[in-house]
Amino acid sequence: MPRAVELNAYGDVDQLRIVDVAKPEPKAGEVLVRVVAAGTNPGEISIREGYLKEMFPMDFPFGQGTDFAGRVDAVGPGVSEFAPGDEVLGWTFQRAAQADYVVSGPANLIRKPVALDWFRAGSLFIVATTAVGAVRAVALKPGDVVAVSGAAGGVGSLAVQLARRTGARVIGIASDDSADFLRSVGVEPIAYGDGLEERLRALAPIDAFIDLFGGGYIDIALKLGVAPQRINSIIDFAGAQKAGAKTDGSAAAASRDTLATVANLIAWGEIVMPLTAIYPFALLRDAYTELARRKARGKIVLALDPAITEPLRPL
Ligand SMILES: NC(=O)c1ccc[n+]([C@@H]2O[C@H](COP(=O)([O-])OP(=O)(O)OC[C@H]3O[C@@H](n4cnc5c(N)ncnc54)[C@H](OP(=O)(O)O)[C@@H]3O)[C@@H](O)[C@H]2O)c1
Repeated sequence: MPRAVELNAYGDVDQLRIVDVAKPEPKAGEVLVRVVAAGTNPGEISIREGYLKEMFPMDFPFGQGTDFAGRVDAVGPGVSEFAPGDEVLGWTFQRAAQADYVVSGPANLIRKPVALDWFRAGSLFIVATTAVGAVRAVALKPGDVVAVSGAAGGVGSLAVQLARRTGARVIGIASDDSADFLRSVGVEPIAYGDGLEERLRALAPIDAFIDLFGGGYIDIALKLGVAPQRINSIIDFAGAQKAGAKTDGSAAAASRDTLATVANLIAWGEIVMPLTAIYPFALLRDAYTELARRKARGKIVLALDPAITEPLRPL
């Protein structure tokens, strides 16, 4: 039987259940995708724990997951852009990506570049669109100095490289564990924690600030003299509103064009997309336990192939 994530109540990882479901039938205008890989994102933790129920009210049971990649299994009447066997990546806003099959509209799919692997493809949509939205928001130009908090995470690892491509000098706020990765992509690492404001001040005048972590970085940016319109937070919405800063994230850049552009940059090695781990679908709860530690370098991805039975990690 095909499998899908099902949540029947708000709560901790124990609420994550994988249940057998009927194979969906694509209706007119729909594409049915056999999923190879699906992404995990921290926002799903907040939704599961019930923190966003005002923003996204939902009736139980509901599923989980936005990003996916896989092969087209069948198409409904009227779909001409895709055919069974096509390799695709895309997104669903139905919280349904973490499943053996997902039904999608063709407008939410692109062809998977041949040189892009399944796991990066399957976890790309949210981080690609968020990184593009956040970098665009601060209008970087060559010679600007931009500081980025959460610089080595799923969004950050892409955002710092997109920021570098504008010609800006990029300072990545991360732990010492992430410093080598950041240097390898042309980013100057600086450790978070005590004295960050003074250490940033000593490094260079900061023109722009991209906050991908929350918890007070907007205040640091303001104290460093960054203009509010050149501060963008994807998480501290209250702080941004108070400061007059921006909050552009995924929604500001969500499109097939954005996804295709970033997918091709990664496929052809123009930017790198680190993976922290590939988890077998059956170890979904372990994947979310690791994601909740907020130590990911790049993405934590789910593999739907039952032949993958242990978490896979870079050497
Ligand atoms: N608004 C939107 O559209 C949108 C879209 C996607 C995500 N988000 C939100 O944006 C945030 C980032 O998402 P993500 O997927 O990139 O998360 P993530 O991959 O879980 O981020 C993990 C990163 O956080 C870093 N980190 C941990 N403690 C830190 C601290 N005190 N200061 C700075 N960095 C720290 C870690 O760096 P070290 O390992 O080096 O410690 C790690 O690289 C989440 O809160 C998510 O919910 C918003």
